[in-house]
Amino acid sequence: MDRYGVIGNPVAHSSSPQIHALFAKATQQDMCYERIGPELEQFEVAVTQFMAEGGKGLNVTLPFKERAFALADVRSTPARAAGAANTLTFRDGKIFADNTDGVGLVRDILQNRHATLAHRSILLIGAGGAARGVIQPLLAESPARLTIANRTANRALTVLSQLRASGVVSEDLLANCEACGLESILAEHFDLVINATSSSLSGGSAPAVPVEVFGPDTLAYDMVYGKGLTPFLTMARRQGTKFLSDGLGMLVEQAAESFYLWRKVFPHTAPVLHQLRVELLG
Ligand code: ATR
Repeated sequence: MDRYGVIGNPVAHSSSPQIHALFAKATQQDMCYERIGPELEQFEVAVTQFMAEGGKGLNVTLPFKERAFALADVRSTPARAAGAANTLTFRDGKIFADNTDGVGLVRDILQNRHATLAHRSILLIGAGGAARGVIQPLLAESPARLTIANRTANRALTVLSQLRASGVVSEDLLANCEACGLESILAEHFDLVINATSSSLSGGSAPAVPVEVFGPDTLAYDMVYGKGLTPFLTMARRQGTKFLSDGLGMLVEQAAESFYLWRKVFPHTAPVLHQLRVELLG
């Protein structure tokens, strides 16, 4: 039986084992999927050991995504753009690094939300790992404009200049991309506003963006999910935004893309997303 797993610290809360078990059952794949939670300094040792034991692939979660990227022999374009990996594949004695977070987000928006990204204006709030993972895949959809805005403006500027320096994204696509602080966001409607900050975690508040960014037809997307609306989605709804989405779809879609990379079979995500929503969020 082929072995896979998720590695993180902490890892007990991860829904990946449940998601991959549902995918494997639905597509009749003979595989198992486990949780691996090494001490912080033991990440590389744990990966190498899993690989030596014949493991086929790992999902990587916080705080190891950058170290997974560094450990790899071969890195995909999305992983290079993010400087981080959430999926490792072990083949022919080599470690292949990929990042499926951005593809997961894009697929959730296009296929599950039936929204479009080409020629749209996008506001991406945040400049941490969560934001960096999705910039290149969003730009690949040719939006009219992508604004990366962060509380600490300098961090947003650095993210953009690092992406430019990496050479991973064409100048054509980068021409429509800008970075700024939250206070410099244009007070006008965007087609899509994505919250990639950790501001709503542990009872926090919504990021301080001008409320004018939310129009009635804006899709407000929070990468976080939980019971009820997040503070960010509550703010969007107060502005009359009709289209609200949490990050559960992204979670399932990024897992499906990892599953596809490993098994070359793409699982149906809708039933899994439905089941997870019922079980996790009631
Ligand atoms: P992650 O890897 O999950 O993105 P991170 O690298 O710690 O985590 O980044 C957290 C992001 O959330 C940052 O963009 C952070 O803004 P700063 O760079 O200014 O710290 C953002 N963030 C956290 N709390 C916030 C808040 N209350 N308002 C706005 N942005 C916030």
